[in-house]
Amino acid sequence: MSETTTSTEGRTFSPPEQITAQANVGPDVYDEASRDRLAFWAKAAERLHWEQPWDEVLDWSNPPFAKWFVGGKLNVAYNCVDRHVEAGHGEQVAYHWEGEPGDTRTITYAQLKDDVSRAANALLELGVQAGDRVAIYMPMIPETVIAMLACARIGAVHMVVFGGFSPDALASRITDAGAQVVITADGGYRRGAPSALKPNVDEALTRTEGVRSVLVVRRTEQDVEWTEGRDVWWHDLVDRQSPEHTPEAFDAEHPLYIMYTSGTTAKPKGILHTTGGYLTQVAYTHWATFDLKPDTDVYWTAADVGWVTGHSYIVYGPLANRATSVMYEGTPETPHRGRWFELIQKYGVTVLYTAPTVIRTFMKWGEDIPAGFDLTTLRLLGSVGEPINPEAWLWYHEHIGGGRCPIVDTWWQTETGAHMITPLPGVTSLVPGSAQHPFPGISAKVVDDEGNELGDDSTGLLVLTEPWPSMLRTIWGDDDRYVDTYWSRFGKNVYFAGDGAKKDADGNIWLLGRVDDVMNVSGHRISTTEVESSLVGHPTVAEAAVVGASDPTTGQGIVAFVILRGTAEDSGDELVQTLRNHVARDIGPIAKPRQIMVVQELPKTRSGKIMRRLLRDIAENRELGDVTTLTDSSVMELIKEKLPATPSED
Ligand code: WT7
Repeated sequence: MSETTTSTEGRTFSPPEQITAQANVGPDVYDEASRDRLAFWAKAAERLHWEQPWDEVLDWSNPPFAKWFVGGKLNVAYNCVDRHVEAGHGEQVAYHWEGEPGDTRTITYAQLKDDVSRAANALLELGVQAGDRVAIYMPMIPETVIAMLACARIGAVHMVVFGGFSPDALASRITDAGAQVVITADGGYRRGAPSALKPNVDEALTRTEGVRSVLVVRRTEQDVEWTEGRDVWWHDLVDRQSPEHTPEAFDAEHPLYIMYTSGTTAKPKGILHTTGGYLTQVAYTHWATFDLKPDTDVYWTAADVGWVTGHSYIVYGPLANRATSVMYEGTPETPHRGRWFELIQKYGVTVLYTAPTVIRTFMKWGEDIPAGFDLTTLRLLGSVGEPINPEAWLWYHEHIGGGRCPIVDTWWQTETGAHMITPLPGVTSLVPGSAQHPFPGISAKVVDDEGNELGDDSTGLLVLTEPWPSMLRTIWGDDDRYVDTYWSRFGKNVYFAGDGAKKDADGNIWLLGRVDDVMNVSGHRISTTEVESSLVGHPTVAEAAVVGASDPTTGQGIVAFVILRGTAEDSGDELVQTLRNHVARDIGPIAKPRQIMVVQELPKTRSGKIMRRLLRDIAENRELGDVTTLTDSSVMELIKEKLPATPSED
């Protein structure tokens, strides 16, 4: 856990009057939720359309296996699309989509309904049934959203894999989820060039069995290899389908999707989300945290659909609330560093939600860039993925928000499905750098190692002490791991989040980063063990230790220490590049180590555990901490002598 400064020069920012006066939720919401938590969530669920009402809000008779809205039935796609069309909003834009090369598509709710119905019919023709798993490996194009909703519409479980992941990572997820259909594209545009996806699918499918169909969207028009009988073009299959499809209502606990995330072991965990509780909490939080006004807001979550942020706040939350969203395919610097600001200006974005790492990159590029665009439509800003340092918060507030927009710093996880700790824009006096308060109806506490609740002005571990509607239901295929990972440290009623947290004297919660062996690089969770096992998978490497070292832009950077096999030759830079590329190929470019140091020894405790804390000190060039439990303290001197070399940039 790294120390985060909690000094904000005492500055707080009270909610602007224009926001408070018309806010979707006011201060009473906290009292209401604490008076009767379940009634509060039931009321939130009533914002959705239920085909059959529930009998019981929560069944927690077998913790930690929760059932929310027991007996209720609904269709997620109907709630996100059809119901708005039926209510007369078919002409409203659901997405202003913009491709990286500058091509655009405007998709209304009526069009989305037709497209999702066609895709649902296509999946049925491919033999997909309710409960089947469908892998989605796509760029940021409308078909990605359409594919997800088509799955939800027919009760199939989607499993989106971020397009930056390697064929290996894709293959292992397909195997673990048991997916039989893959939806992909020839490629997508990134950094000014087409980036291929289909070849990765072809390669992945040589390493996993059971996939019978691959549905391919044409996006970049790159050449693709074709496996007859297995591969089918989206435009051939989907376009000829009927735009009529009658959605079926599914049980509130019917599985909606699996999303893999890194844990403390090399094997990623398939986080399972279900139907009714998930949609209730993403829809409600999206409406309350972002004060979403469907008739006037232009909402933009600038993230990839391949992560949970995209699932909850590009797709399900915004659509359930009938938002008009912006969706952008590419990177912020293409073709120039003002691209995002140009998009805000062009579409009149009013609410922007993104990650601190992007804000810090913008800071590096300089305030002149946002100053060159009209950003006055913005009224609210959000942050997610890692702690936002007060300096970045203040810069975001001033140079993007023009000093007038509240910033909601939202703490949550793939596992929580939706916002858990966040200010509310019409209520909370903002403290830069702190996520501040549990969302109404959420019970978050800071505890010591024994699980005792800590008072104000203390530091400990973050736990959630009551179940919540959008909580994960299990780890796909591994109930034991679900219990062990989240519900064993403090018993079966207490969810251990894996984050350190501090409560300040005013009761604000400050998130301090992971306390386990998980790194956070640009808001992406990467397991140290996963990178270590990739490194030792290379023929030259005998042993590896990986740490997340603090990094001014990405939050943490991956630093690896490797011991070579006796037979391997240390060719210096060349070997380091080979190993970095090996990890990128193995896991994906986001896992490419910033720095790799070849060493003779690794610091270990007497019980043989690698002392990552010391390696982190080295990687961050700090004075060494306590080395008394080391087997051989000269190891650290040896490692320090090897200290290189400026970290690599790419
Ligand atoms: C981990 C979850 C939530 C979607 C994106 C990441 C860190 C997330 C914050 C925040 C401080 C944050 C935590 C958490 N995190 N949001 N506002 N302040 N830390 O989802 O990949 O599941 O990662 O991200 O460490 O445990 P994820």
